[in-house]
Parts: sequence; structure tokens; C-alpha cells
Amino acid sequence: MLKKSDCPFLSLFLICFFALLSNACKEKSEQQETDPTGHHSLKSTFTDAFYIGAALNKKTLEGTDSLGLAIVLKEFNAISPENEMKWMHIHPKKDSFHFAVADTYVALGKKHNMHTLGHTLVWHSQTAEYLKEIRDSATMASHLENHITTIVGRYRGKVDAWDVVNEALNEDGTLRETIFLEVLGESYIENAFTWVALADPEAEMIYNDYNLWKPEKRDGVVRLVRRLQAKNIKIDGVGMQGHWNLNEPSLEDIENSILAYNNLGLKVSITELDITVLPNPWDLEGAEISQNFEGSAFMNPYPDQLPDSVQVQLARRYKEIFQLFLKHRDKIKRVTFWGVHDGGSWLNGWPIKGRSNYPLLFDRDYLPKQAYDSIVSLTN
Ligand code: XIL
Repeated sequence: MLKKSDCPFLSLFLICFFALLSNACKEKSEQQETDPTGHHSLKSTFTDAFYIGAALNKKTLEGTDSLGLAIVLKEFNAISPENEMKWMHIHPKKDSFHFAVADTYVALGKKHNMHTLGHTLVWHSQTAEYLKEIRDSATMASHLENHITTIVGRYRGKVDAWDVVNEALNEDGTLRETIFLEVLGESYIENAFTWVALADPEAEMIYNDYNLWKPEKRDGVVRLVRRLQAKNIKIDGVGMQGHWNLNEPSLEDIENSILAYNNLGLKVSITELDITVLPNPWDLEGAEISQNFEGSAFMNPYPDQLPDSVQVQLARRYKEIFQLFLKHRDKIKRVTFWGVHDGGSWLNGWPIKGRSNYPLLFDRDYLPKQAYDSIVSLTN
């Protein structure tokens, strides 16, 4: 009969086999403990549907929010720069560009193979002071062209998509009175898209705005896109910002807009998703945004923590919204959150300073919230 000592290789083989088996079982049971669906991140949950992204702030980019960065690398496969590519930061003086933080941002995106967004080239807000003094159209056009060509050219082949024009429409769908419209007329929009296409023909080009679920504003976008298309100017996508709340907009309005933009032959991205849980000054009768609500307990109802009942509401709202996104996965290219965790959200400071808001999927301790669980449990 064959004795164990007669066959050392057999013993070794058996030891290794059982060690591997027990390791595999352990891993499997750990996985099952953490996530019964088998999904371990947002990006694995939505991998067959759309990119899932987050906006990064300066702290995350400069390494002082390393826990936030760890979440980004584990959970997301798309990034947007919250502020660092805006005119006032990247091109603050006529003849000087500040590329350092934007370079770090783009390098991060490339290193981790993430879909990297450029936000934003033409926007009336967060511009540079010198632009406001320019009154003649030729000078303004040459500044705009130089701005676009320099930035898009620098990141050619590295920035995958640009929010070319941001927030150019009023709520009724007409063109917003911005410095660009005033000095250049409405051709500034088509020129901007044309200059981006020349500087990086491969980059995806997006028109981005808020409240794009509103029927009148939706019609304004449709008119704007058709105008570009009639002139053979390339536009690839519409970005619906997605600064929403627990009740508004309705799923129906969101869906109608997704369908309307897709009917133009464009992909839709949800570009700045966050869901406020706080009262909105515009909802108060007669409230003006200039009114001072700072320090008002009524306007800041959850200074220490979010009550469980609201946590549940938020989770339900996120779940319904993502069910809708999944239904239209063939039309949606990307869904990006405007921030990583509640502590870093701009909604703690806007539209009223000094409040505690809870609009994202990760809390102030960097832990996933019920809202996170509610969407990773959605099956693809
Ligand atoms: C916001 C940033 O989150 C803030 O940090 C900044 O102070 C103001 O701008 N629409 C946009 C974004 O397109 O660029 C804005 O980002 C939010 C609204």
C-alpha cells in the first residue's frame, strides 16, 4: 500500500490544494458578508450601464483629503474638476494660465484610467475680472478662442469630454444675458463648439445646464442643439446637472428630457448629481436669495446628523432615480455626483452659508449611507 512518506509530492499537493480551497471559501464568505449582490463598488454595479463619476475638489487633488480620494479610486470610473478648470482659476489674467492643479487632475484621471471631464470652458460665472471690461467683439472673440484653444490643446487626447458651454439658457429657454451674449451675440455658442472641435476632434462635446428637466428649458436646449446641427457643428451630448431635491423634479420630467435629448441623436449625461435634504429659500414665499438666512435654525434643521426618517427618504429617492437611469442606460453615457462625501459638498455653503447638508452617498465619516446601499443593490 502506498504510504504518505513514499510520495512527498502527493502530500505537498494535498496541503496546497486544501490551503487554496480554504482561502477561496474565506474570500467568498467575506464577499457575501459585505455585499449579497456580489457588487463591491458603484463602478462594478453600473459597469454595463454608464460611467459613474464624482467631482473632485482641490483638497482631494492636492492630497489633503486622502480618504475622499480612496473612495474615488474604489468606487468611481469618471471624474470632474469641481472648480480648478474654471476661467477664474485656470486663466485668471489675460496672459497667464495656471495649469498646476488642472494638470494634477488630468494626470490622476489618466493614471487610473478614468473617464476625465473638462468643466467648463464658457460660463458667465467664476470668470476672470478682465473679461468684464472687454466691450468690443473682436477682442472678446480672440480671448475666447485663445482660452479654448490653449486649454483644450494642452489636454488633447487626455480630457475625454468637455462641458463646452455651461448654463447659457434662462428658465424659459431663451438665451441668458451673459457677457458673451452681450458682446458676441448668439454665435458665441457655435464658435465655442467649433474651436473645441478644432483643438481636439476626438473629445466629446457637451452642452451643460441645470433644470434641464423643465419643459420650457428643455425646448430651449432642443432649439439650441438644432441650430448647431443645422450648421453642421458637432455636439455630442447634453449634460443635465442634477441638483435636485427629495420631491422635485418628477421622474416623468427627467425621463421626458432624457428622451428629448436622445431624439436629437445625443447622449445624455447626468453631470452634477446631488439631492438636497434642506429647505430651499426660493420655496419660501417672498424669499429672496439675498435675504440673510445664515444662522437660521429653521433653514438648518439637521446641524448634527440626518434623522433616520430622512435618511430613508433619501435612499428611496436615489433608488427611484437610478432605476430610471438604468431603464435608459442605452441613452445615458455617465452619471456624476457633485462631490464625494457630505462633508465636502458645496451644498453646505450654498445657497445659504454654514448649513449641514446630506446630499451624497457617503457621509462625513466617509462611510456609505443607506442611499449607497439602495443603488448598489440594483441589479444590472
Ligand atoms: C460650484 C462648486 O461646487 C462650488 O465649490 C463653487 O463655489 C461654485 O460652483 N453648476 C456648475 C458647477 O456648473 O460648476 C457649480 O459648482 C455648481 C452649479
